[in-house]
Amino acid sequence: MQDKRITLAWTGASGAPYGLRLLECLLAADYQVYLLISSAARVVLATEHGLKLPSGPDAAKQALVEHLNCDASKLVVCGKEDWFSPVASGSAAPKKMVVCPCSAGTLASVAHGMSDNLLERAADVVMKERGQLLLVVRETPFSTLHLENMLKLSKMGVTIMPAAPGFYHQPESIEDLVDFMVARILDHLGVEQGLVPRWGYDQRH
Ligand SMILES: Cc1cc2nc3c(=O)[nH]c(=O)nc-3n(C[C@H](O)[C@H](O)[C@H](O)COP(=O)(O)O)c2cc1C
Repeated sequence: MQDKRITLAWTGASGAPYGLRLLECLLAADYQVYLLISSAARVVLATEHGLKLPSGPDAAKQALVEHLNCDASKLVVCGKEDWFSPVASGSAAPKKMVVCPCSAGTLASVAHGMSDNLLERAADVVMKERGQLLLVVRETPFSTLHLENMLKLSKMGVTIMPAAPGFYHQPESIEDLVDFMVARILDHLGVEQGLVPRWGYDQRH
């Protein structure tokens, strides 16, 4: 049977709308989502989207459910040190995890197996269990250190997917650009989506 569970982490890189839209799409696709939110991600979410999340996981969940008008039963918001969460152990964690957006700081922590909070631990668990880890990294320009960290993780099977939307679908809005990235992420996760036309289909007829 298909495991319709996934871990989604939001960190303090620019690109909060990507993370929010991805959460919305995963819930709409009937996935159980374990959501991890770094402190900096909360600041970025408030700055870029005007959404101020309350600090506790339960209150944050309530705010997100109201904001997205989604089914509360499929969303689990985890605390930063909730070591008893399923995502903290290889015996229970979902096999797929996305960090979107992923900061250079979290990239470095994951590349070095820090496991200093639940978000970093969850990424470490997915890697050790040979699951699918996808990092939607956002920074520009990249330093040599960023590039080395990405190369190291890529060699271990982690997918590095820079938040770099294409323009060949002639986007008309920010939402179109966000959907471009989210569609690519969902494709990689094997989640069905119809957010953007597929290359080669629309152009030919
Ligand atoms: C509005 C805002 C935008 C930011 N954008 C980025 C970014 O695009 N990439 C990045 O690596 N860090 C960015 N930062 C800095 C990170 O939030 C900071 O390094 C933080 O410590 C990352 O912590 P985290 O990885 O635990 O979320 C931004 C911070 C703020 C407040």
